[in-house]
Amino acid sequence: MNSIFLYGPPGTGKSTIGKILARNLKLPFVDLDRVIESKAGMSIAQIMKQLGEPEFRDMEMAALKDAVGHASGGIDSPDKVIALGGGALLRDENRLFAETQGTVVLLMAELTTLLERLKNETGKRPLLAGDVREKLTSLLQQRREHYSSFAIQVRVDEKPASQNAFQVQMALGRYHLSAMGEYEVIVGKIDRLATLSMQNPVIVTDENIAMLHLKKMESVLRGSGYEPKSVIVPTGEEHKTLETVSRLWKSFLESGLDRKSTVIALGGGVIGDLAGFAASTYMRGIDWVCVPTTLLSIVDASLGGKTGFDLTEGKNLIGSFHPPKLVLADTQMLKTLPEAEFISGLAEVVKHGIIADPELFSLCSRGLECVKDNLAQIVKRAMRVKIRIIEDDPYEKGFRAALNLGHTVGHAVELVSRFQLRHGEAVAIGMVAEAKLAERLTVTGKGLSDTISEVLHHLGLPTQIPKQLPREEIIRAMRVDKKKNAKAIRFALPVEIGRVELVDITDLESVLS
Ligand SMILES: NC(=O)c1ccc[n+]([C@@H]2O[C@H](COP(=O)([O-])OP(=O)(O)OC[C@H]3O[C@@H](n4cnc5c(N)ncnc54)[C@H](O)[C@@H]3O)[C@@H](O)[C@H]2O)c1
Repeated sequence: MNSIFLYGPPGTGKSTIGKILARNLKLPFVDLDRVIESKAGMSIAQIMKQLGEPEFRDMEMAALKDAVGHASGGIDSPDKVIALGGGALLRDENRLFAETQGTVVLLMAELTTLLERLKNETGKRPLLAGDVREKLTSLLQQRREHYSSFAIQVRVDEKPASQNAFQVQMALGRYHLSAMGEYEVIVGKIDRLATLSMQNPVIVTDENIAMLHLKKMESVLRGSGYEPKSVIVPTGEEHKTLETVSRLWKSFLESGLDRKSTVIALGGGVIGDLAGFAASTYMRGIDWVCVPTTLLSIVDASLGGKTGFDLTEGKNLIGSFHPPKLVLADTQMLKTLPEAEFISGLAEVVKHGIIADPELFSLCSRGLECVKDNLAQIVKRAMRVKIRIIEDDPYEKGFRAALNLGHTVGHAVELVSRFQLRHGEAVAIGMVAEAKLAERLTVTGKGLSDTISEVLHHLGLPTQIPKQLPREEIIRAMRVDKKKNAKAIRFALPVEIGRVELVDITDLESVLS
């Protein structure tokens, strides 16, 4: 169970932000003060006046327990967003209760912001009756230590409520996707798996990850009473084949998986694609949970519900849409990821910045060390870009094609290099080539390709097509890429940092000139 408790001084917008947050996360919203008022049949001001503060705090405690309920956590756990009164967690008992039932987010703002927001409602706030500035200043002073003791704090000055709700989501690392089904995307510790209710879970992973992270995952699951089984497949794209899928199906059968069982994919994009596909077809589809372990799989492959495997004729030619029940991304796992894999994954992060998040792009422009220092924030921002796009266009009928930025040229370069270039490296080269194309077509002004190229180079990514790769072969590879129709190729071209446009190109020879 992991409800979200919004807490903080009066005027921080707990109720307004809470409603938006609940809508974004598809969770029920509870405004605790309103619940107390409706139960008591009088306003908070009247309760305080007639019954006194200690009685009010008792009512608050009872309402808090009622609001959380006693539902047990599960994949479809009924967590809630609960806006608390400004002193609801002053009692240790209440605080302990909230912290064991979920996560408390403290909202904080400058005194002037709070006063501005409270100017029309002091009558409803008994503790602020009289000189509101003086009362609020003294309340903040009394509670300074208390408020500052909460680990997760979000500043809510001068921003619209929707942006503040987004900041809360960022701080929590929690998103909800409504594309081809409903599922949560959580950036958090792998231990969160312990709170899920699953049946007969089986972990699918590869040889590398098994050595590094399987024991921990098994012990988390054992800690909650599961007896997880594991299937370890060979590492690498060359094993993303029907043979491996078939091996998974057989292992599922041997492990006694039925239609209610859950597959847990612990690994990079290869494992996510394979395990997700095997789950989507085993007994006509069973649940799966995705625990991505590479940067690329966290910000890209784990999101969107695409699963599949390769044929000798080409990558990802066979697949299905089968979203997981949960994506749980633990950035701690990236500590064991080889540096080259990490840098390759950064290309997708930069791509998401170029598509829709200038601040993300700017964070990346500060170089690898800055990225590592701000990894959790960067990952959450990058995930959000993809989540918003796939929510709007789950089946790639329109703007989801924006996510192909850098990929039209990138896929072709990757293929012609015979996969000597990593996917992200090829995408980095592709993004620069496509930005140059955008400049030639005046979709953007001069200089954007240099800006993009500098950031990628600074992060250690290649930006030029290697000389030994024949241009004609790259153009041919673009033409036969499965996603393209015969007459024109649809490119996602950058207009500026934070905005791309879809443009159909017929003259492919011009793409690399
Ligand atoms: N389904 C989608 O929407 C989608 C999107 C993008 C890419 N993909 C697919 O993703 C695949 C590429 O994913 P990838 O880059 O994650 O590659 P990958 O899964 O092959 O992982 C890369 C390497 O890193 C190792 N590794 C993974 N996590 C590790 C960790 N935490 N510590 C140490 N080593 C670790 C793996 O064993 C492997 O050797 C491709 O097959 C691509 O087609 C799918």
